Amino acid sequence: MAVRLGDTAPDFTAPTTQGDINFHEWLGDSWGVLFSHPKDFTPVCTTELGTVAALKSEFDKRNTKVIGLSVDPVDSHVEWEKDIEEVVGTAVNFPMIGDPDRSVADKYDMIHENANDTLTVRSVFIIGPDKKVKLTLTYPASTGRNFNEILRVIDSLQLTADHKVATPANWVDGEDVIISPAVSDEDAKNLFPAGWEPVKPYLRKTKQPNR
Ligand code: BEZ
Repeated sequence: MAVRLGDTAPDFTAPTTQGDINFHEWLGDSWGVLFSHPKDFTPVCTTELGTVAALKSEFDKRNTKVIGLSVDPVDSHVEWEKDIEEVVGTAVNFPMIGDPDRSVADKYDMIHENANDTLTVRSVFIIGPDKKVKLTLTYPASTGRNFNEILRVIDSLQLTADHKVATPANWVDGEDVIISPAVSDEDAKNLFPAGWEPVKPYLRKTKQPNR
């Protein structure tokens, strides 16, 4: 069964490179990113894990914990991490779930039989502090992900959770945002006292509120 936006992220207990974890307990009050890759000791995955390791401080700034997964066992992840550090220059600084029996992969529908019936696809799940799924992404094995985009989405999710705004195409933190269509002009006067640009009656641009 696919995991969809707004669902409670399936909980699990699993071995990781940093010891056994219970997922919901491990998340605590943080935001979380759970991402899968197809296989250890493969080239695109090596660059992805190194990139995430190098961005750890950016995830920390956003109160976001990151955890990886593939259907390889933990001892394989541990061996592979030596290569990743050598290639990228940053040690893998987040836990990697070993899932050889695919129990977590199945809960999150990370095996897409028509792509490959044994390997996990490149899935991403962003999970809020309420344990609800806020974003899902699926990439094929041949395309490495852009983890700056994941950070950008977290910025948008965290902003829009706290303020009645939405973020436009290609928005990055600090740029103008859109007043939520559900907010009337009357209410917007109180919520956005600095005003807004009425591009269209349904498209009202305003300064980012938490700046
Ligand atoms: C890779 O990470 O390079 C990869 C993994 C599985 C299939 C194809 C590529």
